Amino acid sequence: MSSSNIYTIISDNEKDMGILDGLKKRFIDQKFCYVDKAADLYYSWIGKHDTLVKEEKNKIVADALDYMHLVTKNLKKDKKAAFISLWCGNGNPEKKTIVNLLEQWYDISYFGIDYSREMLDLAVQNYQNISCKKHFICADVWSQEFQSTILSLTDDYDIRIYAFLGFTFIALDQSYFIDSMYSLMKKWDFFLFDILIRKDDTKKTLISFFERYNNYLKNDDFVKFHEMPILYAWMDPQSWSFGFDYFQEKGTWAYIYRCFFQFNQKIIITFKGQRIIFLPWEKITMIHRRNYNREQFEYFIAEHEFRYVDHIDHKVQDYVTNSCYLYAK
Ligand SMILES: C[S@@+](CC[C@H](N)C(=O)[O-])C[C@H]1O[C@@H](n2cnc3c(N)ncnc32)[C@H](O)[C@@H]1O
Repeated sequence: MSSSNIYTIISDNEKDMGILDGLKKRFIDQKFCYVDKAADLYYSWIGKHDTLVKEEKNKIVADALDYMHLVTKNLKKDKKAAFISLWCGNGNPEKKTIVNLLEQWYDISYFGIDYSREMLDLAVQNYQNISCKKHFICADVWSQEFQSTILSLTDDYDIRIYAFLGFTFIALDQSYFIDSMYSLMKKWDFFLFDILIRKDDTKKTLISFFERYNNYLKNDDFVKFHEMPILYAWMDPQSWSFGFDYFQEKGTWAYIYRCFFQFNQKIIITFKGQRIIFLPWEKITMIHRRNYNREQFEYFIAEHEFRYVDHIDHKVQDYVTNSCYLYAK
């Protein structure tokens, strides 16, 4: 499938500089994991190895009609609406919703936004038979360029619905997210996102989460997927081991499970002309995955002056619920 209808506002150089910066800071942004072959690897990992994740993802797709109810209950058919999927990947979690909204004659256009060009190629393919106005934009959604682009592209729409679906919210710092969303939205625009809510704060629940992530580590594709940016910087695979730790975040009481590469020897690399030295036992941290306490999370969003509209719960396991929220500015 040609990717000619993808509008790009990032450069290759930006990716290299981002990885370089991450190596020096010992923290690599998760957006660098999904480029090149990693797009397919991500979906093959989600699709085959981990039945837990697979069941959850399938359930979310199956329950996409529920997302739709959240939207239809609150959207009038005579409003011209832009459905903007941030970090869209292949666009699957919202696909059924888009199809159903169109079948019911909602006036909706689709905007898929992702940092990874390869992910957007999957989205273009996935949406090829959906007939509505479609725009695919390769961008860092937090960049100034993206913010001005999306606001000007959607200026003549009555409402923007920003969607952040497929457990993506749990990988980011929610303060950064919520403040950035505020600038992207106009009064009464919506945002729709799903998060993981833990059942309680008992040891049993925490251990269940620990086991969940520990199981991930046993899968080669999962590790390979995280290794992408590290291998890209030409680091010797013998010089590190991969693991995770966890801690509780102040404010939201979220538990964060944080993946890292830990060195077992001193290594010296030269990347993009710059020398970097890693000492044994230094770590490069990567993707974070959070689970939330419901009350504390809702309080956090309310304090950021968003209006709660509605939410739907999908219980995926005994110890965790996937909750999809709709808020308005
Ligand atoms: C966990 S995947 C989820 C994709 C999709 N929502 C799904 O559920 O299948 C996260 C996606 O977010 C994209 N991404 C991460 N950080 C981004 C950023 N700052 N700007 C744009 N896209 C980003 C990645 O490229 C990746 O495709």
